[in-house]
Amino acid sequence: MDYTIKTLLTREEVEKRIKELAKEIEKDYCGKDLLVIGLLKGSIMFMSDLIKEMDLPVMIDFMSVSSYSGTTSTGVINVLKDTDISVKDKDVLIVEDIIDTGLTLSHVKKLLEDRGAKSLKICTLLDKPSRRTVEMKGDYVGFEIPDEFVVGYGLDYDQHHRNLPYVGIVVKK
Ligand code: XMP
Ligand code: MG
Repeated sequence: MDYTIKTLLTREEVEKRIKELAKEIEKDYCGKDLLVIGLLKGSIMFMSDLIKEMDLPVMIDFMSVSSYSGTTSTGVINVLKDTDISVKDKDVLIVEDIIDTGLTLSHVKKLLEDRGAKSLKICTLLDKPSRRTVEMKGDYVGFEIPDEFVVGYGLDYDQHHRNLPYVGIVVKK
């Protein structure tokens, strides 16, 4: 490997924050029929930990979308795997690993709004606000991080390191 990984957020820090987020969500969705949609593949570890901590009878589903092509914010996302459960008239929580430029989530949000979701909120483990090119705010944000490329807890570098139980910065040697 021509890089090393420097710890940014320890496993303990991440797990503690996820529990806090889960309790907040639990409070906000008490009595509602919540559909949690994870964006593959980056959200898997976060989503799994998050929903275990919620004392709610949630439904879960997944979507996989390809990264936008080109540099404009008007590009359309390519849905590689769609949800099985219809979002129409449902309270939907989208779970994402990281908000970077905000483009992916703005497209996904628009798509699910157009499909008639009753409500739509976003929960992201990480947020890089300094990188935003379109307006996008997470409703539940684990950690704001600096503009560094990070891996672990679902996030990858060339498809590797998603299984790291902490979040680390990729440092080139
Ligand atoms: P946008 O820019 O649409 O993209 O908000 C969000 C997606 O970009 C990927 N991304 C990263 N992946 N380490 C990663 O492993 C990073 O530091 C990073 N920054 C952005 C990620 O797939 C996310 O879903
Ligand atoms: Mg992703």
